[in-house]
Amino acid sequence: MLPGSGLLWLALLPLASACGPASEEEDWAAQPPDWDAEIAPVVAEDLNPDPNVLEVKIEARLAELEILPGVLTEVWSYNGSIPGPLLRAKKGDRLIVHFTNHLPDPTTVHWHGVRVPATMDGTHAVQDPVEPGESFTYDFELLDAGTFWYHPHIDSSAQVGYGLYGPIVVEDPDDPIDAEELVLVLSDMSLDEEGQLQPGDATEWFGDYFGREGSVLLVNGQVQPKLRARTGLPQRWRVINAARARFFKMAVPDTDLIRIGGDGGLIESPQTFSELLLATSERAEVLVSFPESAAGALEVVAQDPDRFNLGVLELDQPLFDVEVEAGGAGAARVPETLREFPPLDLAGLPTRQIVLGEQALDGVPHLSINGEVHQDSMHHHETPHVAYVGDTEVWEVLNDTDYAHPFHLHGFSFEVLEVGGRPWPVREMKDSVNVPPRETLRFVVTYDDRPGLWMFHCHILDHAKLGMMAVLEVRPRE
Ligand code: C2O
Ligand code: CU
Repeated sequence: MLPGSGLLWLALLPLASACGPASEEEDWAAQPPDWDAEIAPVVAEDLNPDPNVLEVKIEARLAELEILPGVLTEVWSYNGSIPGPLLRAKKGDRLIVHFTNHLPDPTTVHWHGVRVPATMDGTHAVQDPVEPGESFTYDFELLDAGTFWYHPHIDSSAQVGYGLYGPIVVEDPDDPIDAEELVLVLSDMSLDEEGQLQPGDATEWFGDYFGREGSVLLVNGQVQPKLRARTGLPQRWRVINAARARFFKMAVPDTDLIRIGGDGGLIESPQTFSELLLATSERAEVLVSFPESAAGALEVVAQDPDRFNLGVLELDQPLFDVEVEAGGAGAARVPETLREFPPLDLAGLPTRQIVLGEQALDGVPHLSINGEVHQDSMHHHETPHVAYVGDTEVWEVLNDTDYAHPFHLHGFSFEVLEVGGRPWPVREMKDSVNVPPRETLRFVVTYDDRPGLWMFHCHILDHAKLGMMAVLEVRPRE
């Protein structure tokens, strides 16, 4: 195959079917009618006629949703839905969000993975919380294509757990993939016997320390929704793990997942897996093409991701159903090169050492970064980690504990070099990556010209709350 050749895309079209469509309305070269109607997230309404501006209104408010059959659960929502409305735009567009807080608590919105100016990053390091009844306008350019998401950055372990998160898709006009697309936001929720939200700090220290995994698994806010598909016709799934603590290991029976994208858009070359592991806040783009043998009803499941390195303890749990109709044929073929990356030159780069650890605070075990326990307050000052615009550095992040921590850096996507001495399998841009117990992560990052205060933390949000969070100050070079 010729890397990068657009002609290879013809192979994605299904081969002509031997039998032909059953009826005139039924087109076998397309997904079944209403294939994603039940499962797809709500799409945000664009209030701006300019094709290069996406302007939306987002209200954080309480809403009653039927999560469990026949029970109304009062959740926290963006615009009344879980997930919040999908923000879909294209690379280079301007995004304007008129945000209003109708919640009982202060909140902010963080644009996870989006290359925003520091002042738009939505953390307590760069803005005052938006108090109940108040508004804030977020306004920035979408510089990179990819799958991102938004969520609160104040009391986030509770607020994300209550339902506050939403997907962002930034399309690349030169995207080489031509397949129907579906956004899948995976999450979970802790409900009591009445089907109502458990308090975000239920089980107190224990919950913070182990991370609160919800009792109910959600796919686009629903319990086990249904999707329809046609054999041989690839679907492109953009999968987001928006849970506050749960890792998802998603498996589709008898069907390969071809990973084509990650946190920050397309990866260098496709990778084929039988299951997809996403730590909290990670994203993936996969092409799924059901073989003839998969025709019928199948269940996509979440396997035990073994976050505590104890071996697999739980049975598979259902995520969503797929009704696969026969008809199409052939398999998804993708180019060998999806995206060109410039050669990496690591010679002479400085290394920054980060240790994710435990630290007692007032006699209670907390979690720390380089021995410091972060406290979620704007007025708490700690030693800043300092970097300079234009610099490129290697970060060496040691997990000095006995359980996993998904590491997230705000503002600047990075390339993972290795984890636990194992080279990263493919070149790609990431902003979140799991660091297994007692292992070291190495990545390389360049600070483009966006000085300011940027958080980095464990994205098990309960762990961030328990102190595993810090601030990177990126200073202009004088
Ligand atoms: Cu997705 Cu600091 O967060
Ligand atoms: Cu952690």
